[in-house]
Amino acid sequence: MTHFAYRDNILCADHVPLTDIARQYGTPLYVYSKTALTENYLAYADALKKYQHPETPGLVCFSVKSNSNLAVLKILGDLGSGFDIVSGGELSRVIAAGCDPRKAIFSGVGKTKEEIRFALENDILCFNIESPAELNRINEIAGEMGTTAPISFRVNPDVDAKTHPYISTGLKENKFGVAFDEAFDCYKTAAAMPNIRITGIDCHIGSQLLDDGPLLEAFDRLVILVDRLSEAGIELHHIDIGGGIGIAYHEEKPVAVPDYLARLYTRINAWRNKQYGGKPIQLMLEPGRSISGNAGVLLTEVQYLKTNTDKNYAIVDAAMNDLMRPALYDAWHTVLPVHKREMAAATYDIVGPICESGDWLAKQRDLAVTSGDLLAIMSAGAYGMVMASNYNTRGKAAEVIVDHEQVHLVRRRESAEDLFAFEKVLP
Ligand code: LLP
Repeated sequence: MTHFAYRDNILCADHVPLTDIARQYGTPLYVYSKTALTENYLAYADALKKYQHPETPGLVCFSVKSNSNLAVLKILGDLGSGFDIVSGGELSRVIAAGCDPRKAIFSGVGKTKEEIRFALENDILCFNIESPAELNRINEIAGEMGTTAPISFRVNPDVDAKTHPYISTGLKENKFGVAFDEAFDCYKTAAAMPNIRITGIDCHIGSQLLDDGPLLEAFDRLVILVDRLSEAGIELHHIDIGGGIGIAYHEEKPVAVPDYLARLYTRINAWRNKQYGGKPIQLMLEPGRSISGNAGVLLTEVQYLKTNTDKNYAIVDAAMNDLMRPALYDAWHTVLPVHKREMAAATYDIVGPICESGDWLAKQRDLAVTSGDLLAIMSAGAYGMVMASNYNTRGKAAEVIVDHEQVHLVRRRESAEDLFAFEKVLP
């Protein structure tokens, strides 16, 4: 996380001390770096530019579920990003941010009629269809609206992503996608439908993949289908390989994005030239975590230090409702003191104020801290704020974006009144 580094013993975001930001905006606070978001996006976009076929420029569709703040979407949209969305709500965000819905691709197993209609009204780029029932529904609605729906099938390649079981999605026992063996027939059915326009094929085998081996394997599986479809007269315009590479939370060593894309394009080109008659085909990607994850931290203030029997706790003002990943996945987030102190460290569990033993952010960390100090929970830009809840009637944290020397508030802190604004007592 090179955009979060110490200067004179104070942790900074770009050049701005996190102490100053906390003083102005309070804690808990999500802090994102615009430069980091930009660089992480460009790692994909520049590699695509380098390797893509000029007739079919690739498209990065940022996975909105990883960080859906409007300002984040706008930064990426302005750089040329498309968007991977999984709900009508996420599409509304893309539009509200002033980004182009015609660059949105819509994934998800449970699209409702209203969501499909809304997506068609906004002329989205493609529906990633996950079942024959969904195909029928989309065809029907497009028919009612007198239009055609661009579609791809999310095919389940039955590849082991070798990641956390909760975020592994490409095995045949998962709820996602259509089975590899049934996909050909799905395409045949779709090709005969009056209000469906087949544009591509898609897969997503899981998240936080450190190695690109399973992704390349998934690609090899997909092109078997692309070839079969082409022989049957169904020509595809794009292949969407799903989410991006994982990130380093601790000591992980993820493959570098440009190296992954170089290897992927070597496969694409070899396949195109040998089997696919040299025809161009567009590559799409849906990275989330690798763009937003290490572009953000969660800032929190130590409220109390406490020792129970032989265990030390640092009780902070952020909690599992702000960052759910540790409680939910046993996930590791590095914790750094914002102010490096010259004092002896002790070993702490970093816990929040919520009434659950699962309310912890980090365990057994050596820290030199005292009450009132700030801690930065690192790598919190993806699946952080988006998964936050209001449990214990805790307002969600504020969010800021640092753009070199400037700090912009991009979501204000929720007040207690915000939390019960939709409720009323009986007459
Ligand atoms: N495309 C689809 C269809 C997805 O389901 C996902 C993530 C992505 C793309 C983006 O994947 P990424 O590039 O971020 O790996 N809450 C979990 C992660 C859930 C991922 C869900 N799908 C976590 O905090 O680790």
